[in-house]
Amino acid sequence: MAYRLFEGKEHASIYQQYRFTPPSGLKDIIIQYLDKKKGPPHELAVDLGCGTGQHTRLLAPHFKEIVGIDVSECQLEEARSVPGYTNITYRTGTAEELPFEDGTVDLLTASSAAHWFDRSRFLLEANRVLKPRGCIALLGFIDTNISLNYKDCGDKLNRIYQEVKELLQPYTSNPVAASESKLQDLYDAIPFPDKERIESYQNKSMISVSRLVGFISSWSMYHSYKRKDPQGAEDLLANIQKRFLDEMGASSPDTEIEREWEYFCVLASKPL
Ligand SMILES: C[S@@+](CC[C@H](N)C(=O)[O-])C[C@H]1O[C@@H](n2cnc3c(N)ncnc32)[C@H](O)[C@@H]1O
Repeated sequence: MAYRLFEGKEHASIYQQYRFTPPSGLKDIIIQYLDKKKGPPHELAVDLGCGTGQHTRLLAPHFKEIVGIDVSECQLEEARSVPGYTNITYRTGTAEELPFEDGTVDLLTASSAAHWFDRSRFLLEANRVLKPRGCIALLGFIDTNISLNYKDCGDKLNRIYQEVKELLQPYTSNPVAASESKLQDLYDAIPFPDKERIESYQNKSMISVSRLVGFISSWSMYHSYKRKDPQGAEDLLANIQKRFLDEMGASSPDTEIEREWEYFCVLASKPL
C-alpha cells in the first residue's frame, strides 16, 4: 500500500510554493547517462512520485513525451496548474503499478520519492516497462550536512536547522531515513548489473529565510507533528524564523542566505 502523507490540498500547495527544483546540472548528468547507455530517440520519460512537478518540468526539453505519476491527486492538480508544458501529462497512479505497455519507457525517474515505494514491486514494474537499455534515475538530497552561510553566523544557522530536524525526529517515518542512506537498499536490490551511483552532487543557491522556513513546513514529519499539535507546529515555524533572523541581525524574512545542499543519484540501465 502506498504511503499517503502528501494528500491534503494545503500540503500540496506548500509543495508547489516551497519545494526546490533539483539542480539542472544533475538532470544533465542523467540525460548524458541515458544517451550513453541507450542513445536516442528520447521518446518517453516517466517521473514517479512527481508531486507538484518541479523535476518533471526539468525533463520537458529532452523528451517527446513526459508523464508525471503520483498517488496524490491534490499534488497533481498543483502540477497541472503550471502552464507552458504541452508535452507533459500528469496521471494518478503508483510506482508499483504503471500504466505503460512492456518495453515502452526510455527513462524512469523519481526525485525525493523512491524511498516511499514498495521496493520489489517497483523494481519489477521498472524492469517490465523499460525499453532494453532504458534507464532508471533515482535522485534525492541529504540535508544532514547542509551548509547555511550568512556573514559569520553560518555555524549557528546550521545548528538551528539540525535542532529542528532532531525535534521532528520522533515524527520521521522509516522511508525518510532510507532516503538519508542515499537509497542504499534500493540500489543493492536493482537487478540490473549495469548500475552506478553519484554519491555527492553539491549544489549552492541563495534562499530567503521565509522560503527556508516554508521548505521546513513541506516536510512529511512536520505535517505528522502538525496533526498532533497544530498550535505547537505553527509556533515552531515562527520560532525558527525568529531565531534565524536574530542570529543574522536581520529583520526582513526576505533576507537571503546561501544554502549548500548535497544531492545523490542512483543510476541503472536495463540489459538488452
Ligand atoms: C517528497 S515528495 C517528492 C515530490 C517531487 N518529486 C519533488 O521532487 O519535490 C514524494 C511524492 O511521492 C508520492 N508518492 C509516495 N508514494 C508513492 C507511490 N508508491 N507511487 C507514486 N507516488 C508516490 C507522494 O504523494 C509525494 O507527492
